[in-house]
Amino acid sequence: MAKAKTNVFFCQECGYESAKWMGQCPGCRAWNSFVEEPVVKAASGKASMRVSGNAAKPVTLEEIETSETERISSGMAELDRVLGGGIVPGSLVLVGGDPGIGKSTILLQVCKNLAAAGVSTLYVSGEESLKQIKMRAARIGTFTNDVRFMCETSLTEIENTITKENPKVAVIDSIQTMCNEEISSAPGSVSQVRESTSVLMQLAKKQGVMIFIVGHVTKEGTVAGPRVLEHMVDTVLYFEGDRHAAYRILRGVKNRFGSTNEIGVFEMREDGLAEVANPSEYMLSGRPENASGSVVACSMEGTRPILVEIQSLVCRTSFGIPRRTAAGTDFNRVNLLLAVLEKRLNMPLSSCDAYINIAGGIRMNEPAIDLAMVLAIISSYQDKPIDEKTIVFGEVGLSGEVRAVSMARQRVMEAKKLGFRRVILPKVSADSMEAVDGIQLIGVATVLDAMRSIS
Ligand code: TYD
Ligand code: MG
Repeated sequence: MAKAKTNVFFCQECGYESAKWMGQCPGCRAWNSFVEEPVVKAASGKASMRVSGNAAKPVTLEEIETSETERISSGMAELDRVLGGGIVPGSLVLVGGDPGIGKSTILLQVCKNLAAAGVSTLYVSGEESLKQIKMRAARIGTFTNDVRFMCETSLTEIENTITKENPKVAVIDSIQTMCNEEISSAPGSVSQVRESTSVLMQLAKKQGVMIFIVGHVTKEGTVAGPRVLEHMVDTVLYFEGDRHAAYRILRGVKNRFGSTNEIGVFEMREDGLAEVANPSEYMLSGRPENASGSVVACSMEGTRPILVEIQSLVCRTSFGIPRRTAAGTDFNRVNLLLAVLEKRLNMPLSSCDAYINIAGGIRMNEPAIDLAMVLAIISSYQDKPIDEKTIVFGEVGLSGEVRAVSMARQRVMEAKKLGFRRVILPKVSADSMEAVDGIQLIGVATVLDAMRSIS
């Protein structure tokens, strides 16, 4: 039945729906994010989204026919890893990120690689003209004729083209510029973005075409963010990284076809994005020699250990309340660790400013970097450099105990691969580990042990 709703308010951040305007969104706690949108649905009555054909009758698992779905390689090992081993036909993947981070670039490169492998692709841009796309493509390399380009914002047109041309992979850049004529609100509004995605989802499932959707993340809430769509799509990837630094991290947030928390590391070059096969080496380049407050930590990102440099600067405060900052990690965690050191090691840190930085602009939240932060703080406080061939990992508890972390052996092997000689790790992990050639394992049970191990 035709359903006419008017005066509905949507949170532009998370899509929360409300009959009246609210100052703060009860869903995501964003302030001033509600915008009134007229929602007028056409009488087509396709409100129920059916993604698997005519499955109106319940069936048992045995009755469901499956054919081994073959994944297609995107030609980029880093992207394939985040996708869980390659592109799954018929899936819908959302690629989110700040404007200018490189979403269009990576997807154009994927189109180029796929076309080179003979997979037909369609690149739909609602943001750039064909000329602009050609200029960008010229920087990236040569394209075969298996990739087609189109500038279009009308969803009906796009739907028709995909049905007619039947490409294996399609890119929609970006979902916020797409316009579904059945909805009266402006492109980029919550209802537009949501309806357009649902149309694309049905198209992907019906035709077996794999669709990449680009979604800009906005701070101001002028257009609906990709968070609104996270629950609808199969896979959500976010592009992160400092726009001013060269490297970019692609992080899986949701994946119906593989593990999340895998990351892919890329570097933005003159000729597009290049894969960084060994991120640890990349993150540690340019490390200061013999500097106090610098410690190398090991964090697991999915199945991959990554070494990063943690820097700390501790100095006497000249204010009543000490200044603390944490770049690249959780601010509250840093405060907690400072309190643990104050209490368990009697270090007068409450009269010190403390700054913590994870070099390279990468974000790390794994508790395994606690011990490295602790040692960086101690090293800076005492102004004593730590042997630079040492890596540190372990979780620190409130009583100052150093707790075991997962996959200790992989972390030690990564350190060995990069030429480190000493590993300071939780005692429990050290005791249960076989000796590793050329690596000195130092097991510590408390932060006091850890402090002694570096003095
Ligand atoms: P873009 O991919 O358009 O970002 P998004 O689609 O996420 O908004 O732009 C990425 C940025 O990278 C842009 O500012 C220009 C730069 N860039 C390079 O440094 N090298 C290149 O080869 C390309 C194509 C872009
Ligand atoms: Mg773009």
